[in-house]
Amino acid sequence: MRKPLIAGNWKMNGSRSETRELLAGIQHGLGEGFPFEVMVIPPYPYLQLAAGLVKHDGLVLGAQDLSPHAGGAYTGEVSGAMLVDCGCRAVLVGHSERRSLHGETDADVAAKFRAAVQIGLTPVLCVGETLAEREQGQTEAVVSRQLERVLQAAGIVAFASAVVAYEPVWAIGTGKTATPAQAQEVHAVIRAQLASEDATIGGLVRILYGGSVKPDNAAEIFAQQDIDGGLIGGASLDADSFVAICRAAQ
Ligand code: G3H
Repeated sequence: MRKPLIAGNWKMNGSRSETRELLAGIQHGLGEGFPFEVMVIPPYPYLQLAAGLVKHDGLVLGAQDLSPHAGGAYTGEVSGAMLVDCGCRAVLVGHSERRSLHGETDADVAAKFRAAVQIGLTPVLCVGETLAEREQGQTEAVVSRQLERVLQAAGIVAFASAVVAYEPVWAIGTGKTATPAQAQEVHAVIRAQLASEDATIGGLVRILYGGSVKPDNAAEIFAQQDIDGGLIGGASLDADSFVAICRAAQ
């Protein structure tokens, strides 16, 4: 019912030549037909280059962030319309690195989510708790609060065209992965929260897991009932690893 989605967030990595090589490797590895959706999320300067290289409808181009504003005097910012113009169909919103390193609040994230939906981009809304929050038993409360702020701002109907990514902050880039059971537990909470607003949308929304997903742990994570794929950081920079992770979603 829910088509798996594997998204590769390249973060601040790569160059023009590496973008060419990585996309060629991914597309060669995936072949012509695959029963899942794949997203690549390069840094801004390489989006247009990537858009010209993507040859398959099942391979979606996404951006790592967007401005909540439509345009104007916002030096250094990139609008949703510009991303659409460069060939993007999706955008990350509220990645934990934006929240922790750039001070993005729940309100900022909600405004960006709305801006993405309004321009027709699929927002990939990232939520997740820190290690301290998990140790204090706050995981569910934190994730529910992050989700609630966006629900209040954008409404449940906006989630019909959105993706949610659960990324425990302590698992990002650390080599520590949530166990499949830990991840499933939080995914079920997220789905139940959305389903309590609209059962159909809650049932259909794709919820990705992110945090040290590798070829050797992906299949077990993706096999969980409420896990519909992954948001991959480090392992998405190697075409063979990324394709192996995609294949684990079959
Ligand atoms: O956006 C991706 C996530 O932050 C996961 O990164 O796979 O390097 O842990 P990672």
